[in-house]
Amino acid sequence: MNAHQQFIHENKDRFLNELFTLLRIPSVSADPKYKNDVLKTAETVKELMIQSGADNCRLIETDGYPVVYGEKMIDPSLPTVLVYGHYDVQPPDPLDLWTSPPFEPTVRKTEIHPDGAIFARGSCDDKGQFYMHVKALETMLKTNTLTCNVKFMIEGEEEVGSANLGAFLRNNKEQLKADVILISDTSIIANDTPSIDVGLRGLAYMEVEVTGPNRDLHSGVYGGAVANPVNILCKMIASCHDENNHITVDGFYDNVAELSAEERADLNKAPFNMDAYKKDLDINEVWGEKGYTTNERTGIRPTLDVNGIWGGYTGEGAKTVLPSKAFAKISMRLVPNQTSEEISAKFEKHFQKIAPPSVKVKVSHHHGGNPVVVSTTSAAFQAASKAMETTYGKKPVPTRGGGSIPIVALFKSELGLDSVLFGFGLDTDALHSPNEHYGIFNYLKGIETIPLFYKHYAELKK
Ligand code: BES
Ligand code: MN
Ligand code: MN
Repeated sequence: MNAHQQFIHENKDRFLNELFTLLRIPSVSADPKYKNDVLKTAETVKELMIQSGADNCRLIETDGYPVVYGEKMIDPSLPTVLVYGHYDVQPPDPLDLWTSPPFEPTVRKTEIHPDGAIFARGSCDDKGQFYMHVKALETMLKTNTLTCNVKFMIEGEEEVGSANLGAFLRNNKEQLKADVILISDTSIIANDTPSIDVGLRGLAYMEVEVTGPNRDLHSGVYGGAVANPVNILCKMIASCHDENNHITVDGFYDNVAELSAEERADLNKAPFNMDAYKKDLDINEVWGEKGYTTNERTGIRPTLDVNGIWGGYTGEGAKTVLPSKAFAKISMRLVPNQTSEEISAKFEKHFQKIAPPSVKVKVSHHHGGNPVVVSTTSAAFQAASKAMETTYGKKPVPTRGGGSIPIVALFKSELGLDSVLFGFGLDTDALHSPNEHYGIFNYLKGIETIPLFYKHYAELKK
């Protein structure tokens, strides 16, 4: 065992217990009823950072939830790494599908995690993953091996779109000065197959309201003669994909960067087990855009999905009603070189255009974010790759992540900084779902790997 492994081994239980303290606070940013818990989480993150040896720890206010800041500046001539993460979590619903309560962290073994996994909302996304960085700093400080300056910026609004973070970056440019951004909020392929995301999709999130008659009607008296907005909305949504599952929104693909055959072949080298994929989801067949593999469909192709749809009578029993209104939340995942603004505008125009004259349509915009790709030749990416190669015994595979982290594009446009997506979770860890979990193996492996990133990054930047 080397000095880092020794220190992590000796402090393993405490490292886990500190994370459990964070996981017990329900920091759900989407629901105002958790406001005090979200704020308490920010305070707790700050306290834990102080205990772990960071300096200048404080909450920086935004127009929403505060950002927790902390740093360890050891030498101005060394490179500075800015660690980003988020302490807010997704709502835990549906509660009855959790085996143990979402805010009572519980360790259980699973097939994929034979050493045990921590079951709790936020365990993987992102409390368990950002807290690895706090413990990695402690490990480097206690073993006298820190080779870079470190800054932490842990936000509380990622799961609701980071709407206040663009302004935060602009207002705190000096404080956030760094050479690179380091983020653990993505996945690896498997615990024996390390990978590093080299891209993230963007997002355009819309809400639509379709209005038919001015009030709910008797479906016998009026049915068949007046447009039913639920019927119409379903038809409009269905028409957004053609028979090849291409998206029909006018101009949707105008700016989509097409990859060369060679780039696609490279991406498809990433190990992928279709049978395991289908078995995990209990589906008989996958679905998606014709001409693309599953990894391409989630990595390099844009999507349009209904996230929720409602309207009419949904209570007990049956009610014969022709509803006045129908609603849907529709989001689109974006790839280079689409932008959230462009696609939101195109969707709105398209949805107005395809509406029949028998209904009125209102389209509104929720949050969005732009897609990103990161360089694999940068010193930071090379340092991350070497670090994983050492601790996993295998060179990590470059992958394209299907999810979105809106701030990553803003780090580039506002601060001119590249990010390294140094995630350690698994896609099967049930992020945003009931029974979210994070492997203890993954947590400890992250704490062991992160210090090697600093070591290699300092060497490569010399
Ligand atoms: N950590 C995820 C994003 C992610 C997960 C990227 C797995 C790659 C692999 C993040 O917390 C998240 O859930 N982002 C949201 C976007 C946000 C605007 C609500 C998403 O992707 O839906
Ligand atoms: Mn996340
Ligand atoms: Mn998330």
